[in-house]
Amino acid sequence: MRMVDLIEKKRDGHELSTEEINFIIQGYTEGSIPDYQVSAFTMAVVFQGMTERERADLTMAMVKSGDQIDLSQIEGIKVDKHSTGGVGDTTTLVLGPLVASVGVPVAKMSGRGLGHTGGTIDKLESVAGFHVEIDSSEFTELVNKNKIAVIGQSGNLTPADKKLYALRDVTGTVESIPLIASSIMSKKIAAGADAIVLDVKTGAGAFMKTLEDSRELARAMVGIGNKVGRRTMAVISDMSQPLGFAIGNALEVKEAIDTLRGEGPEDLTELCLTLGSHMVYLGGKAHSLKEARSLLEEAIQNGSALEKLKIFLSSQGGDATVVDNPEKLPQAKYTFELEAKEDGYVSEIIADEVGTAAMLLGAGRATKESVIDLAVGLVLRKKIGDQVNKGESLVTIYSNFEDIKEVSEKLYENIKIASSKVEAPTLIYEEIT
Ligand code: URA
Ligand code: CA
Repeated sequence: MRMVDLIEKKRDGHELSTEEINFIIQGYTEGSIPDYQVSAFTMAVVFQGMTERERADLTMAMVKSGDQIDLSQIEGIKVDKHSTGGVGDTTTLVLGPLVASVGVPVAKMSGRGLGHTGGTIDKLESVAGFHVEIDSSEFTELVNKNKIAVIGQSGNLTPADKKLYALRDVTGTVESIPLIASSIMSKKIAAGADAIVLDVKTGAGAFMKTLEDSRELARAMVGIGNKVGRRTMAVISDMSQPLGFAIGNALEVKEAIDTLRGEGPEDLTELCLTLGSHMVYLGGKAHSLKEARSLLEEAIQNGSALEKLKIFLSSQGGDATVVDNPEKLPQAKYTFELEAKEDGYVSEIIADEVGTAAMLLGAGRATKESVIDLAVGLVLRKKIGDQVNKGESLVTIYSNFEDIKEVSEKLYENIKIASSKVEAPTLIYEEIT
């Protein structure tokens, strides 16, 4: 087989065989096929696309390029949730304890990552003592005993995807639905999920800005998952404005605690109940989505979800008393209120820009070397559609430095107030199975 023939075949709009796709991915991972040929190939995919079969083959070729996590010692159906990323997305912190409390095993491998705030591990580390440096046998034991544990990323998962994604980034070939879908799905499958619930975000703060693109990506990922034997479904949810109120690490832990207690923001609560219902249903703990949802609502009402969070935190060294005493979480030195300059209705809260404001305070990493400040961030006091009077607070800013001029300017620029009434955006657009 010659790579140049395969590039031409895809360029001319033909379908590649399983063997041909394996040849490309293996050769690229081993280094026998150079970057320039693979970049020509990815550009051909951008223009010609891939069939559902090709996408599934590409995904599995990337899965097989590295280690695969074996969760077979963990009892039950392992359902993983994946979000395509947004601002202030506290769902993982809520969903873990919530679905575990009704018996669905949560065996989460997580990372730190770059972004407006830290990743799930950074957020959890705002609980004193909590750590994810456990070995895989301890991880398995914890999940079997408590139904939930989080372990830090280890092993060499999907090296083909790492190499390919970096190449796509500099060759204008990130924006291709088959390539994005197989990239995301390969990582989930290599991490050992039996079933996958996808939260595909749409809107200004999302990777996919339009509903059409989000729908296409969701369908592509659901298609791949089901084709390779992992039951997969997707929810398309709003990311035009940040989810919930809090954007920051300790602030989001506090928000997750509130939500597990039944006192969280309405949108975050609703999205968690929707995603969670699908996780419980796919995890075989309910016969219908309706039954799954009642189980979760009950777990919030009777305190078992909150209790599960305490067990989870203390089992990994964390001080679980923060759950009842959130003032023990890292606290910022200063708080400031961003006061509305006029009367009206909040019409826009541009999610990614507001996320950048949180990052300016130190809540997120700009580079791998950045140190994040767990205490700082933002708490929105108004969301789109809310009425506001001049002088009322739009946002509380938690900062460890006094000069917040740049941050408040950024927030004023990106939180817009209209004079007439504005509808709150739709939270959940579609569920794709
Ligand atoms: N996120 C991924 O993991 N892969 C892509 O290709 C795009 C976004
Ligand atoms: Ca939030």
